[in-house]
Amino acid sequence: MIRKAVIPVAGLGTRLLPLTKALPKEMLPIGDKPVIEHTIRELVDSGIDDITIVTSARKDLVQRHFAPDADLERELRAAGKDDLAGAVAELSSLAHITYLYQRGPYGNGTPILNAARVIGDEPFMVLWADDVFVAEVPRAQQLKAAYEATGAPVLALMPMAVEDASRYGVPIVEEDLGGGRLRISGLVEKPRPEEAPSRYAAIGGYVVTPGVVAELEEATRRWHEHPEGEIYLTDALHRHAAGNPVYGQVIDGTWWDTGSPLNYLRAQFAAALADPVYGPELRKLARES
Ligand code: G1P
Repeated sequence: MIRKAVIPVAGLGTRLLPLTKALPKEMLPIGDKPVIEHTIRELVDSGIDDITIVTSARKDLVQRHFAPDADLERELRAAGKDDLAGAVAELSSLAHITYLYQRGPYGNGTPILNAARVIGDEPFMVLWADDVFVAEVPRAQQLKAAYEATGAPVLALMPMAVEDASRYGVPIVEEDLGGGRLRISGLVEKPRPEEAPSRYAAIGGYVVTPGVVAELEEATRRWHEHPEGEIYLTDALHRHAAGNPVYGQVIDGTWWDTGSPLNYLRAQFAAALADPVYGPELRKLARES
């Protein structure tokens, strides 16, 4: 049973600089919500509302977005804007969010290890807050179902064009089990296209088990002995897959990646066109330009 999730947000967001110098990349809007709100709603819609955000001091806007604001609510109600007051109140009661400051060696495995110390000995979900999925069954729910069926670590996958391989973790597929479920024997981080072991990209959604956390702990121990390199989730999953089952779940849905300037603009454009109120008008504008 997956009850908890971790969202790491301490990264510097260098790929979107200077836009993300002051504004955390997780706070960039996609449609009418910041990316991280989409991520949290996806988790809540999947029955996971116990969420640890691993953050840094420069990302305080994330905290502010979800913090209660009784003064603002009171003022809105006094002005007769009850619907807006309700929307503000709903944001702060969306989920049980705990914040942790990231501490440890560089790399995306560190926030997971920080959170695992608090969560304890149970599997949990990890989502990066730089993808948005539009899906009938939320991506997190699809990952949860794959974990429930296999009892093993699972990573979210999407088909990719082979030229994009050098931007993603690419799984080594051992067996296609049908229904988008793949048995994975390893993962190659950002291979050159000619070396890509498959045409799938790992897209920032994982079910991490205590066995994977143990691999991250081992990597950190080695790092303390020889402080060099970085602690990466991909490496831990790869090592774990050498002796244990690991699965990939190809996600059924539309994927908006916001991690590069072009993809962010694409995601904005797609979200604007999909908006039920403003979409038709914007479509007309796009056709005319
Ligand atoms: C990270 C992971 C990579 C994954 C990607 C998905 O890379 O290391 O395996 O494919 O997220 O967004 P990053 O984008 O942080 O460089």
